[in-house]
Amino acid sequence: MAQAPSRLAHARPVPHIVSEIPGPKARAHVAYDETWTSPSLPRAYPIVPVRGEGLTVEDIDGNLFLDFAAGIAVTSTGHSHPQVVAAIKEQAAELIHFSASDFYLPIYAQVCERLAGVAPIKGGRARTYLGNSGAEVVEASIKLARHATGRQNVVAFLGAFHGRTYGAVSLTASKAKYHAHFGPLLPGIYHAPYGTVEDLKWFDEVLFDKLVPASEVAAIIVEPIQGEGGYLVPEDGFMPGLRELCDRHGILLIADEIQSGVGRTGEMWAVDLWDVKPDILLTAKGIASGMPLGAMVARADLLEAWGAGAHGSTYGGNPVACAAAMATLDLIESGLVDNARVRGEQAMAGLRELAARHPGLVRDARGRGLMIGVEFDTAAHAEAVQRAAFQRGLLVLECGKTTVRMSPALTVRKDEMATALRIFGESVAEVAARGD
Ligand SMILES: Cc1ncc(COP(=O)(O)O)c(C=O)c1O
Repeated sequence: MAQAPSRLAHARPVPHIVSEIPGPKARAHVAYDETWTSPSLPRAYPIVPVRGEGLTVEDIDGNLFLDFAAGIAVTSTGHSHPQVVAAIKEQAAELIHFSASDFYLPIYAQVCERLAGVAPIKGGRARTYLGNSGAEVVEASIKLARHATGRQNVVAFLGAFHGRTYGAVSLTASKAKYHAHFGPLLPGIYHAPYGTVEDLKWFDEVLFDKLVPASEVAAIIVEPIQGEGGYLVPEDGFMPGLRELCDRHGILLIADEIQSGVGRTGEMWAVDLWDVKPDILLTAKGIASGMPLGAMVARADLLEAWGAGAHGSTYGGNPVACAAAMATLDLIESGLVDNARVRGEQAMAGLRELAARHPGLVRDARGRGLMIGVEFDTAAHAEAVQRAAFQRGLLVLECGKTTVRMSPALTVRKDEMATALRIFGESVAEVAARGD
């Protein structure tokens, strides 16, 4: 089959720097942006993208970057995948909006059916609510859990990130600054230690014994692999232990797969790594390749217990976002999950060698599939490596305090992974050579 001509014809091999980084147009744009946009946006470094294709991004000065950040783990099928673009165009030409809250949208129900078919929900029978973002479906899950159980309290984990809206930020516990000056937050939220089987004892020994009875806890919400908190993979027994704990006390288990889901870990969902079936599964980010869509897939009996009007949204499950999701799922299910696993193995092999070359600086390389974290000895060194990679044309993004994450599109090729590992290695070597 003839290949469509590349919009970034000069994009091989990436990266390709034609101007200093950031270049003059990028610097001018940053100054303009700083006049008009909210300073609350935590920009990592001054990339000003104008065009993307696959894993290649062109900035406003014509520099080409290899994108291993993917818009914070969102562009799962690469930038502007032709099949996704075609689906968006076709749907936009037919119907852009017709609120699914008040009327019936065929494509909305099709996405719900599709997600119910692939999400491993306890009991097997699932229905789905669609929103616009991750935080929105986190909010929906708090409401559903309280409504379905008649209980008020929700437990999240230290290090968790669930979003910025009031309920979601109350669950979030990855950085104190996310809470600063915003109180009072949502009441009835507790934070548990994350990640080991030993940590699970905290529930019986501390929470249920000293703070609140288990019979008053509606749900435990967990990232099966913590994202913003540092790309932390829990001990193997942790997720199954949590499922067992929830079953023992009639507590709902909510898996926040907003970052870890849709094939990123080399399994369709990170919970599949441990064969755990949550009562509610949340997805967003990678589900629609960059169009705003969030989904709460839940046990049908839970959703069937709240009546008409209990929850809804004007735009949630917008037909254009749904069309992007259908095209994304087609691509994900045609080999991208396997590619994520294989390319993830390639990455881990390279990063373990890198860690062995710089044992003082690189403290850990961990992850599953294409959800990869490289931990450094200090926050300053993680930041310096991220910056050095940017200067060389590789986009990565920090998470946690001392970790740099790699979360490329699931379409990443072997040669692109090799290039990224080479540039990342050079960036680490540069920081090591500075010796500060
Ligand atoms: C695990 C997790 N949950 C929730 C969110 C919030 O999603 P959104 O930014 O779409 O509101 C994020 C975003 O980074 C996330 O990583």
